[in-house]
Amino acid sequence: MKFSIFLLFVAFSCVKSQGNTLVLLDNQVIRETHSIFFKSLQERGYNLSFKIADDASLVLSKYGEYLYENLIIFAPAVEEFGGTLNVETITQFIDDGGNVLVAGNSGTGDVLRELASECGFEVDEEGAYVIDHLNYDVNDEGQHTRLAISPENLIDSPIIVGSKKDAKPLIYQGTGILADPDNPLVLPLLTADSTAYSYVPDQPIKEYPHAVGKDTVLIAGLQARNNARVVFSGSLSFFSDEFFTSPVAKSRGGLKSDTSGNRDVAIAISQWVFKEHGQLRVRSVKHSKVGEAKPPTAYTIMDDVVYKIEIDIKEDGQWKQFNADDIQLEFVRIDPFVRINLQKKGKEYEARFKIPDVYGVYQFKVDYDRVGYTRIYNTTQVSVRPLQHTQYERFIACAYPYYAGAFSMMAG
Ligand SMILES: *[C@@H]1O[C@H](CO)[C@@H](O)[C@H](O)[C@H]1NC(C)=O
Ligand SMILES: *[C@@H]1O[C@H](CO)[C@@H](O)[C@H](O)[C@H]1NC(C)=O
Repeated sequence: MKFSIFLLFVAFSCVKSQGNTLVLLDNQVIRETHSIFFKSLQERGYNLSFKIADDASLVLSKYGEYLYENLIIFAPAVEEFGGTLNVETITQFIDDGGNVLVAGNSGTGDVLRELASECGFEVDEEGAYVIDHLNYDVNDEGQHTRLAISPENLIDSPIIVGSKKDAKPLIYQGTGILADPDNPLVLPLLTADSTAYSYVPDQPIKEYPHAVGKDTVLIAGLQARNNARVVFSGSLSFFSDEFFTSPVAKSRGGLKSDTSGNRDVAIAISQWVFKEHGQLRVRSVKHSKVGEAKPPTAYTIMDDVVYKIEIDIKEDGQWKQFNADDIQLEFVRIDPFVRINLQKKGKEYEARFKIPDVYGVYQFKVDYDRVGYTRIYNTTQVSVRPLQHTQYERFIACAYPYYAGAFSMMAG
């Protein structure tokens, strides 16, 4: 008995705590129908608090502190959240760095639509499904809304959706999302095939559908400027046990698999949205003249400088060195005067260059923005002064006529 308690203790202490997560549901049944997804989160150390979305006791923060780091909204039908939750408080939560995973369906309520549009997505009208008469699953019930999606339609970013190589086909049933193509922060994580469109299945098509072909986004992501992450899926069933375990096959042949790839993709997306993956930080920044240890109070034009930066990535809860060969340094005075690649030297990235022959106030600037990763934007301001009068050369070649003039005058 004692031993088993000890084992239990060991088992619990091995699980890293990943932070409190509020899960809002339409009803308790969703907890059962999506148990594999929730279990995978709990196994990774998330403390899930399940609540009904219109529960009157809902609160996100108390005394100015957030009770949760992450929010999951698996409540497509909710018309209004309970307690103090509403679109404003959730938007504020995102502005303060919280992560949100939302899943809708064809009956997505107004409050979720409003939340989506705050994040730069537009959910199609009520009742609309993504329909594809060529790429539906064999288990479709006749309206061609249960789609078999090739993993090729996932975004090219292993850090968000996992490796596309040997990824299995996906099943999707739900509404379409339109993402603003001019918004660089919005990422289409999964898109429909070119033959798909989003419309109410049993109505004749009178107007041009809102979303057509590859513009129909099925799962959209957002990494805000403060690095908070939001994922909006048009399908709640995408995360369900049924879709995780069903076989998938395109009705016309081609794609076929005994189990769908939904589970792998859903777990990868949850790891990205809750910042287990792709989180970067700057550990240290150093700069000085070549051969010196400390930065001078001001650099002089034409100095040789060395700039060093250490960047970490979070892996399995630990900060480790980040390896990349495409990080650049800019030396900026309004416009960049120097832009060079940083070389990895041991733990640090390093760049050496000569300060240009222009004095003023400059910045060393590293702006690293790659899909799926936290944006790194680190600037250090330095001043560059002209040469002091004692630093000029005493005799310069082009002045010899004047020297000669002076001496010839004296001789005269
Ligand atoms: C899980 O979250 C609940 C609600 O925030 C909290 O009361 C509880 O102490 C947490 N449990 C752990 C193990 O952190
Ligand atoms: C750049 O990184 C250093 C080291 O982490 C930090 O002290 C500094 O505040 C950062 N600067 C900016 C502008 O973020």
